[in-house]
Amino acid sequence: MGHESINWDTLGFDYIKTDKRYLSHWRDGAWQEGTLTEDNVLHISEGSTALHYGQQCFEGLKAYRCKDGSINLFRPDQNAQRMQRSCSRLLMPHVPTEQFIEACKQVVKANEHFIPPYGSGGALYLRPFVIGVGDNIGVRTAPEFIFSIFCIPVGAYFKGGLKPNNFVISSYDRAAPNGTGAAKVGGNYAASLMPGSEAKKNSFADCIYLDPQTHSKIEEVGSANFFAITADGKFVTPKSPSVLPGITRLSLIELAQSRLGLEVVEGDVFIDKIDEFKEAGACGTAAVITPIGGISYKDKLHVFYSQTEVGPVTQRLYKELTGVQSGDVEAPAGWIVKV
Ligand code: PLP
Ligand code: COI
Repeated sequence: MGHESINWDTLGFDYIKTDKRYLSHWRDGAWQEGTLTEDNVLHISEGSTALHYGQQCFEGLKAYRCKDGSINLFRPDQNAQRMQRSCSRLLMPHVPTEQFIEACKQVVKANEHFIPPYGSGGALYLRPFVIGVGDNIGVRTAPEFIFSIFCIPVGAYFKGGLKPNNFVISSYDRAAPNGTGAAKVGGNYAASLMPGSEAKKNSFADCIYLDPQTHSKIEEVGSANFFAITADGKFVTPKSPSVLPGITRLSLIELAQSRLGLEVVEGDVFIDKIDEFKEAGACGTAAVITPIGGISYKDKLHVFYSQTEVGPVTQRLYKELTGVQSGDVEAPAGWIVKV
């Protein structure tokens, strides 16, 4: 699809083939020089570990068009570091932070026409990934790897953007207690496909997972982190070794403290105490901030601020976060990398 035929106002979160993607091979112990290519099809060995043993990880970050026409990347160093941790967990080679950020810039520049305009609410979503490839059959790390980044113009991930959505507590787990929950690896998402599909069939936006050890504490949404606001204005978010350490979550913690003057509590969020929360939300790169209207647990819908209105603290957090990302609000030092 050419960028000329995109309706920026109705963009959702769907694959669109953009012009160029970055591709680099790891062979003989080193990353080869990366190139931009028009071909969106990978040709890999049938024995690739990514296909059989889930040896792969990915990232998600966005490029934003600013009012003055410049382009912002939001905290790409954090994505680079998280991808390095995911690679370590799955015995894959690190992509150096500098190479990661340089590759992001190249992809954004090569697809500049696909960046949604300032004020449209959309952004260019970058999807970096590392996969184990090459001839292999035993359960072991791959002989070769591919690091690639492609990009897609996107709008809202959940229906309506800044509109309350209902979520349901899953009886399945997406990760094991000492498993790969904190790594951004495909296996966690494969495990979430069936629960997520069941949730959507029942008209929920997605499911929320409890801690895999005791099933008594909220961990996260299948595609975003969880936060809540208490009656006395505290920002609460789960802390657990099986939750993905989200960069949006981290940024909201910092903005809630430094800009909104909120007390932040990272810790256990017991499912049987959720009625104490005034507001709740899902946060992530794709989700941005999606207000949670209600959570269904054991066939009862626990409603937070409202099923239709967005709570005042959630609104302030949204304004601050999206303002920083698109350059309308001054960013904390180091958060914005200009393309
Ligand atoms: N949790 C899960 C399972 C996710 O897929 C994501 C999305 O990346 C997040 C949390 C939020 O992470 P981030 O804010 O870095 O996008
Ligand atoms: C993201 O927000 O970047 C995600 O990875 C969430 C989802 C699309 C898997």
